[in-house]
Amino acid sequence: MKAMILNGSPKKKGSTSGLLGRAMGCFLAGWEVWHASIRTKKQFPEILQHLKEIDVLILAAPLYVDGIPSHVIEFLQEAEAFCRENHCRFVFYAISNNGFIEGSHNRVHLKMYECWCRRADVAWGGGIGVGGGEMFYVLSIVYPVIFAVFILSQLIRYAMGAPAALAHWAPLLKNLAVYLFLNGGVLYCMVRLGVNVRRMRTTKNRCTRMMVPSFLFIPMADLFMILTALFHGKNIFTLLKKDEIGGKAN
Ligand SMILES: Cc1cc2nc3c(=O)[nH]c(=O)nc-3n(C[C@H](O)[C@H](O)[C@H](O)COP(=O)(O)O)c2cc1C
Repeated sequence: MKAMILNGSPKKKGSTSGLLGRAMGCFLAGWEVWHASIRTKKQFPEILQHLKEIDVLILAAPLYVDGIPSHVIEFLQEAEAFCRENHCRFVFYAISNNGFIEGSHNRVHLKMYECWCRRADVAWGGGIGVGGGEMFYVLSIVYPVIFAVFILSQLIRYAMGAPAALAHWAPLLKNLAVYLFLNGGVLYCMVRLGVNVRRMRTTKNRCTRMMVPSFLFIPMADLFMILTALFHGKNIFTLLKKDEIGGKAN
């Protein structure tokens, strides 16, 4: 079986879509899987040629203004004509992620891909929507680092002669439990989608989110965005400035 996993994020690196796409690839062991990005138009011709031979297409893309990002629309327009002309016969699955915590915001985004399948005359397999996508990405970096540092520190302790005891590993298990809890919804939906993709079965769209209450997520996300902006060289006064359109309208 052949599958193509497309990363629909415009980010060069560090995208949630890329991470979710790579994770989905783990479910396709034994398949011929081709990963590609539609960030720039350069790769379109090569990607289109693959559409003729694949059995499954998985698109992982972010939600932009409650819909499909414009560069993804550009790709889909070309792919639609290509699929109709070449009678492509793959099953299309989509993984959408968004910045807000509510995964249900992705519902319309997924429907748009379903509509595209009808236009392109290919089969729609279903999709998942992930709320709090940025948080999913950050935790997927932070927690493995925490685990690695902890394991390393334990090994150093043992190497220096400290007695081995099961209780020393309790913090690791606690952190693992927290990680699995926060990502529980995403992991569940990914596993279900992965199983359905392997069987090339059509499944209903599922939306999930990071398991954090909204009242905690919002201040945390605000702080994260401010720190990220500062890290990228935006000073605090730029961040507080009214944008031009808003200024004129007022
Ligand atoms: C131009 C733009 C529009 C966005 N629109 C939305 C939106 O309507 N709703 C939402 O929840 N998040 C929105 N986001 C946030 C992204 O969906 C979010 O950051 C996502 O995790 C990015 O995924 P990626 O890392 O795969 O690119 C928007 C981001 C950008 C840059």
